[in-house]
Amino acid sequence: MNRKIMTGLAFLTLALALGCTHSPSPQPANPDPGQPPAGPGPAADPENPSFKTDILPIFLTYCSGCHNQTTNNEGFIFISYETITAKKFTPGNPGDTKLYDAITDDDEEDRMPKTPNPRLSPERITLIRNWIRNGAPNN
Ligand code: HEC
Repeated sequence: MNRKIMTGLAFLTLALALGCTHSPSPQPANPDPGQPPAGPGPAADPENPSFKTDILPIFLTYCSGCHNQTTNNEGFIFISYETITAKKFTPGNPGDTKLYDAITDDDEEDRMPKTPNPRLSPERITLIRNWIRNGAPNN
């Protein structure tokens, strides 16, 4: 075998080896495209959640698909601080706030988010309660 062929083979082997280790295995962006993304991570301070980083992303992920300007079921729009706090909402009193009623309804059928959408975790329900209890700050 002459030198040229040897060098060529060496390069070919190297290229194959690199090609193998570097070939990306295709990963779907969202493992379950039928479901919305899981929503925000855990709050830094669950007793004092931040509207912008903890609360708003929950509404945008779990509620705004059915409660927006075009589809405002029962007139509830959950896309911004102003719309979330606009209707039957009492800062400081979760028990007198319709959206809190809706996410804690004993009746599975009536509880928001409506099936078949994913439910809110107990942690997220508590975050929303604490935020309302704290006077629903726009923080
Ligand atoms: C899959 C669609 C869907 C999703 C997601 C959804 N809703 Fe609703 N929502 C509805 C419909 C439809 C109604 C109208 C009443 C009914 O059919 O029960 C409604 C009604 C409501 C009402 C009024 C209830 C009443 O008794 O008057 C509130 C408050 C509410 N939703 C809050 C929420 C909140 C908060 C979320 C997110 C955590 C949410 N919804 C997510 C579809 C949805």
